[in-house]
Amino acid sequence: MKQQLVDKFLEIYGDGDPVNVYFAPGRVNLIGEHTDYNGGHVFPCAITIGTYAAARRRADQKVHLYSLNYPESGMIKASLSDLAYRQKDGWGNYPKGVIQTFQSKGCQIPCGLDILYYGEIPKGLGIGSSASLEVVTGLILRELMGLTDINMIDIALFSQLTENEYMGTSSGIMDPFTIAMGKKDHAIFLDTSNLSYIYAPLLLLHEKIIITNSQKARLAVDERYQERRAQCEQALKELQTVIAIRDLGELTAEVFEQVQEMIQSPLRLRRARHAVTENQRTIQAVEALKRGDIGEFGQLMNASHLSLKEDYEVSCEELDILVEESWDIDGVLGSRMMGAGFGGCIISIVENSAVNEFIQKVGKHYEERTGLHAEFYVVETGNGAFAL
Ligand code: GLA
Repeated sequence: MKQQLVDKFLEIYGDGDPVNVYFAPGRVNLIGEHTDYNGGHVFPCAITIGTYAAARRRADQKVHLYSLNYPESGMIKASLSDLAYRQKDGWGNYPKGVIQTFQSKGCQIPCGLDILYYGEIPKGLGIGSSASLEVVTGLILRELMGLTDINMIDIALFSQLTENEYMGTSSGIMDPFTIAMGKKDHAIFLDTSNLSYIYAPLLLLHEKIIITNSQKARLAVDERYQERRAQCEQALKELQTVIAIRDLGELTAEVFEQVQEMIQSPLRLRRARHAVTENQRTIQAVEALKRGDIGEFGQLMNASHLSLKEDYEVSCEELDILVEESWDIDGVLGSRMMGAGFGGCIISIVENSAVNEFIQKVGKHYEERTGLHAEFYVVETGNGAFAL
C-alpha cells in the first residue's frame, strides 16, 4: 500500500522531496452508545481498515488535496491564509478544517502541503470515516510541521473541534479518540467526562466481531442527533435543581430512580434513562469482560439495543430486523445497533462456528423482510493512527 500510494502521489504532484505515508483506522463501538456527550463511558476499538494519506511539505503557502476516492472532485486547492469552509470543496473541507483548527490553537504551520488520500472505510456505515480523515490529517501536521508538543489526544480533540465548529456537526469525542489512541487486541474503556481511559484486552479466541450494514440511508441523522443531545441537556438541567451533578453519566441507576421525577416530560425521562443505564451497562460490560464472561457481555449489548430502540428512539425498522434476526441464531452472544443510529450498521459478537450461518441466514431473512441486501464485515482490532 505504501509504495502504491507514493507512486500515485508522484504521478499527481510530481517529483520532489521524499513523501511520507500515514494511516488512521476506523472504529467500532462494542457498547456505550450516545453516552459520549453525556459524560458517560464508551467501549470502542480501532479496526484494521481506515484512511491512508501520503504527504509532503510545499515550499509555498498552498494546500493541495486529492482523494483517490473522489477523483471527480479533482484537486482541492486552498492556502494557509484562506481555509474557509466551501461547499464546493466537499470532502476536502475536513482536512482544511483540521489545518484551520490547528492554527486557531496556536500551532505554527510554516508552509503548505500536498496530500493524497485513500480511504478504505465505506461511507455511511457510521464507523468513523470522517474522524479517520481528520485524525490522519492531524498526524500529518504534527509529523511534517514538527509540532512536537502535540500528542495523540490533542489530535483527537482538534478533530472533534473541527467536526463541531468547522463542519457544524455535534459529534462527541468517541470516534477521534479511538482512532487516535486505539491499540490492537484491545478496546478502550474511556470516561468521556475527563478522558481518563484504560486499554482492556479483547482477545476473542472463539468469537468474531461482525458489522452488518443495513444499507438503509441515514436520513436527517445530524438533526435527530442534535435533538437527542438537547433533550439530555434539558433533562440534566431539571435534575440539577435537586442534585449537584455535571453530567448524566455521574448518576447510578438507583440515584436516577430517586430523582427522575424532576424531569418534566416522559420523553426526556426516557432519553435521560438511556444515558444513565447505558453508562452503567458499559461499566458492567467491561467488568464482565475482565472476568472472561463474554456471555454476560453479549447480554448487555442486547439490553443496549433495546434501550436505544425504546428509550432513546434512535433505531429504525431495518436495524431492529437485523438485530432480531441475529438474536435468532445460536452462537450469537450479543447484537445491537451501533453508532448514531437511524440506519448504518449493527455490531454482533458471534462464535466462530456460527459465522457462516449468521451471514447466510441474517442476510437471507433481512432481504426477505426489507428487500435490502445487507453487507457483512468481519472486523479485526487494530492500532490507532501511525506513520507507515
Ligand atoms: C456518532 C458520534 C459519536 C457518538 C455516537 C453515538 O458516532 O460521532 O460521538 O455520539 O454517534 O454513540
